[in-house]
Amino acid sequence: MDKRKLTLQELSELKRQGRKIRMITAYDYPMAVLVDQSPMEMILVGDSLGMVVLGYESTVPVTMADMIHHTKAVVRGAKNTLVVADLPFMSYQVSVAQAVRNAGRLLKEGGADAVKLEGGSAVADTVRAIVKAGIPVMGHLGLTPQTATLLGGLKAQARDAAAARALVADARLLEQAGAFSLVLEAIPAQLAEVVTREVSIPTIGIGAGPHCDGQVLVLHDALGLFQRFVPKFVKQYAALGQSVAEALSSYCQEVAEGSFPAPQHCFNMKKEELQKLLEG
Ligand code: KIV
Repeated sequence: MDKRKLTLQELSELKRQGRKIRMITAYDYPMAVLVDQSPMEMILVGDSLGMVVLGYESTVPVTMADMIHHTKAVVRGAKNTLVVADLPFMSYQVSVAQAVRNAGRLLKEGGADAVKLEGGSAVADTVRAIVKAGIPVMGHLGLTPQTATLLGGLKAQARDAAAARALVADARLLEQAGAFSLVLEAIPAQLAEVVTREVSIPTIGIGAGPHCDGQVLVLHDALGLFQRFVPKFVKQYAALGQSVAEALSSYCQEVAEGSFPAPQHCFNMKKEELQKLLEG
């Protein structure tokens, strides 16, 4: 496939042209290669890796070391797709200087093209400082999983007019602070439509309806690889978990009954070498 990494200006152009932006998460080299071979414009190395790859209960325990490790693997596999890496919980909240330093690490050590962080007005100054340092920032509003406990759990946000108005104000603030794009997670479709109209930067929805400028899904949700729970907004495009279970069961059965390895999986010795071996 003829594909090259888009510039951020070209990404904005897609919004102006009304062409949808496609984004999905990836956390390792083989999946990044597959995503890179698809028409996907962006990969998110999400801190969702804490749940779907590392087995934590939430994204809270994810560290900078985890993010850099997985971002490096994705970047090695995705040469022609924009890679955005998440700043994990407590890597940007302590001070603006800490945030700029850690955002820089995701680019310098991880090789990401941009970073994403969660929050609205509380992080606007942080976003401004990171952008001023030359690092592209994607915002994230609505359900922000790092602070899900404060939000009452992993549930839809901004469903009443006052909260919706506050979210629109946050979106404007993030745009003014220099964010190049915004993830909108688990908010009413009608609100996402308003935000998408109100800001000139692309909105990328997950559980935010069809009116966003683009969509993002967690890869392991979309492929049916994460079975602990399936959010309402997820569509499973494959049932890889089931395929893997069937493959593992066949392997176990064939090893147990001796039908694997078959002759085509074996190396052989020349007859005369075998003769020498057996003669001692
Ligand atoms: O970490 C992640 O995968 C995300 C998506 C849910 C947008 O932030």
